[in-house]
Amino acid sequence: MNSTGKARLEQAPEKEEKIITISEKDPEERLYESLKNHELPDYLLYTGVEGANNWLKLEGSGTCPVARQLKIMLEENVVSIIRFIPACMSLVSVEVGSGEKERVLLKELIKKKLAENPASEKVSTRYYPVDINSQFVDAALEKVKDLPVEKKGIVGFIEDMPLLKKHWHLPVLFCILGNTFCNYEPEFILQLIHENLEQGDLFFFDANLLPAQGSDEETQSATKSILGTYASRKNALFNMYPLLQYGMAPNDFDFELLLAHVDSRIGALYRTQKSLNILKDSEIRVGEETICFREGDVIRMGFTYKYTYNQVLAFLDICGFEVLKALLSEDGTNAMILANKRI
Ligand SMILES: C[S@@+](CC[C@H](N)C(=O)[O-])C[C@H]1O[C@@H](n2cnc3c(N)ncnc32)[C@H](O)[C@@H]1O
Repeated sequence: MNSTGKARLEQAPEKEEKIITISEKDPEERLYESLKNHELPDYLLYTGVEGANNWLKLEGSGTCPVARQLKIMLEENVVSIIRFIPACMSLVSVEVGSGEKERVLLKELIKKKLAENPASEKVSTRYYPVDINSQFVDAALEKVKDLPVEKKGIVGFIEDMPLLKKHWHLPVLFCILGNTFCNYEPEFILQLIHENLEQGDLFFFDANLLPAQGSDEETQSATKSILGTYASRKNALFNMYPLLQYGMAPNDFDFELLLAHVDSRIGALYRTQKSLNILKDSEIRVGEETICFREGDVIRMGFTYKYTYNQVLAFLDICGFEVLKALLSEDGTNAMILANKRI
């Protein structure tokens, strides 16, 4: 960066705003409704102060290799990615978490803006961190407080994208990072994004993949390594936390992780399958309500798809996206993709 650029990066903080589209009371009610139906969707693991702290601890503990690898890959490739992104774009990042990756992107975007227009008095890039947990939105805003960025944090669900988009200034670089893409049904998430992006907007995401396999042994070793990634004690505790928090004893249930085959329009896919299995008749209290579980009950949890690189490209194609830039790590286990809507 030139010296002018440096001076501007250090200028006084820009305007900051936060918009809340969901009620703070919701998480407990949602937890009760879900558990009553023997379900614990993943987003409920991240709610409240405890949910935020649990994730930050897990992410920082080094037992979450996926998050770490994807961050390193972004840092190593950010310059070549930003080359494809017009400097005028606003950055929207949904499921932002602590916002570390977004800081990497924003710094590079600001550099590009300054390089293109060194005479401009003020470089202000617009940034919209979005998360269901208000604490994460605050953390993401804080993370860029020294950058010349006009910030509007939004507390909301990605599923409410039609509502969220009313708050942002076009064109946008719409990001879902940290393997978030793989936690949704592929056609659901791609259609949602396709319907809500405008021509001229860009879509950027990363994914932790199943390397292309040849032999049976290669397949077996890849599946074993997937299960190993998610089956650490720390990860199991992260998944068990809501039941522990509301009064169940650790010995009353266990956490199970399997890898299943599921059918799709493009053929068979791998998907993790998580559950909490009740080992003893027990009950928990959520707010004013009590939920009783019986031995043998199964609480179904969220999932993560394990795509091959070609499967991701195939879904983008059938959902109307054109790939502008795709990066695949040398070992074939991580990818980052920049795409736009096909005209
Ligand atoms: C795996 S964590 C953080 C991912 C982050 N992008 C990263 O790369 O570290 C997932 C985040 O998504 C948020 N989240 C979960 N479900 C969500 C939803 N449906 N809409 C918006 N945010 C959601 C959680 O609160 C959490 O901060």
